[in-house]
Amino acid sequence: MTTADTPKPKRDALLATAHTHMPMGVADSYRYWGDDNTVFVESLKGCRLTDVDGQEFVDFRLAYGPIILGYRDARIDNAVIDAITNIGTMSGFSTGLDAEVIELVKSLCPQIEKMRFANSGTEAVLGAVRTARGFTGRNKIVVVEGGFHGLYDEMMWKPDVDNWQPQGDSAPEIKAFGIGIPEASREHLETISLNDEAALIDVFKRVGHDIAAIVIEPIMGNCGSIAASQAYMQALRDQCDAHGALLIIDEVKTGFRVAKGGAQQLYGIYADLTTFAKAMGNGYPVAAFGGRADVMNTIHSGTGGVTHGGTYTANMIALAAAKATLSVLKDTDALATIHQTGAAIQQVLSRVFSKHGIEHKFAGPDSMFGIHFNTRADQDVPHNYRDWKQTNSELYTAFAHRLIAKGIMLEPDSREPWFICEAHQSVDLAWLEQVADEALGEAIAAQNTSTENSDA
Ligand SMILES: Cc1ncc(COP(=O)(O)O)c(C=O)c1O
Repeated sequence: MTTADTPKPKRDALLATAHTHMPMGVADSYRYWGDDNTVFVESLKGCRLTDVDGQEFVDFRLAYGPIILGYRDARIDNAVIDAITNIGTMSGFSTGLDAEVIELVKSLCPQIEKMRFANSGTEAVLGAVRTARGFTGRNKIVVVEGGFHGLYDEMMWKPDVDNWQPQGDSAPEIKAFGIGIPEASREHLETISLNDEAALIDVFKRVGHDIAAIVIEPIMGNCGSIAASQAYMQALRDQCDAHGALLIIDEVKTGFRVAKGGAQQLYGIYADLTTFAKAMGNGYPVAAFGGRADVMNTIHSGTGGVTHGGTYTANMIALAAAKATLSVLKDTDALATIHQTGAAIQQVLSRVFSKHGIEHKFAGPDSMFGIHFNTRADQDVPHNYRDWKQTNSELYTAFAHRLIAKGIMLEPDSREPWFICEAHQSVDLAWLEQVADEALGEAIAAQNTSTENSDA
């Protein structure tokens, strides 16, 4: 399907050139949306993105979540410029900024006693998992269906929900993200379904003696913001404690976004180790993992220590951005504004969905909400990835493609939430309502036509 109602000659030319230089013509495979839909950006400001052909979009994708204040926020950019002008970009040595940023994190997240930096969410998860294995002396890592923890071999196994039949008792088959991932990398990985306490108890019964950690996104930022229940989070905490396993909460998407203290503040349940990235730096590449001091102190260079480091770790660009972003989030009403704006946007969208008779549920917090079109009036908010399969994600994707054509940028997949930043407070809600109304009307009409054609 083509999203662009208008021709995109500059994009077409850039993509043709890019195809000669990069596989799929993009620097990251997820950026390729087909030759007719792949986006090339000219500029970014606030909550707006302008593509190379001059079309402007209000952006709810926000680079998969890092933008929490807005693109090119002067409060952050000036702090970075200041740091690299007056200190430099990196030296391979320490500066006082390391501890300053950690003090800020600690002031927002009481579970952090010690922390280390990383350059991406993937690296933060790798560091946390290695530290958990080092501390416990155990091998197994338990993950939840629909969670995503980055692109390294062990975390690149996922349930094949697309080809799974919900009728019956069988679990979705676990498959690698692609070739090149050794079968051996899943040797110590166990996968359970979210909010299924029986499955949780069963995995501890089977292999509890060797479970180093459970890694979970309590609000699944990679699965339509489907969230763990309070009872499930408590059960996770209790089971980990009872069996000497660690709880790693992956707050790469939720950290400093869903609340100042992240998902753990919302649940009041705290991890042994936490991973952060994205909103921590408003778009600058900074990440971290940390938690209990006794666990983190397993990182040392002596015999029996966990190794952690990296050339670009705690560079000045990352830390200056983190210090400025965390200070704004701590000291201003930015997050309150983001939540109010997100709630208002959901109200507008809900009105449009109801007008068209589309059963729907919103999942997750107002700063990062998922939209699920239901197939039945009595259907609840999805409780796990398997429930998501029962939603009308095809209609959502058709709706999303039409929104994009009309100037609203988002991922055309209902597993990716709508991200709200402070700058979205400037969005004209009447405009949003009109665009959403037109887009949904067109998506429904197209779906009806294709049903009629397949019936004929
Ligand atoms: C929860 C979670 N963990 C880890 C990652 C990996 O982060 P990165 O893409 O920065 O490596 C992501 C990325 O979206 C994520 O959402």
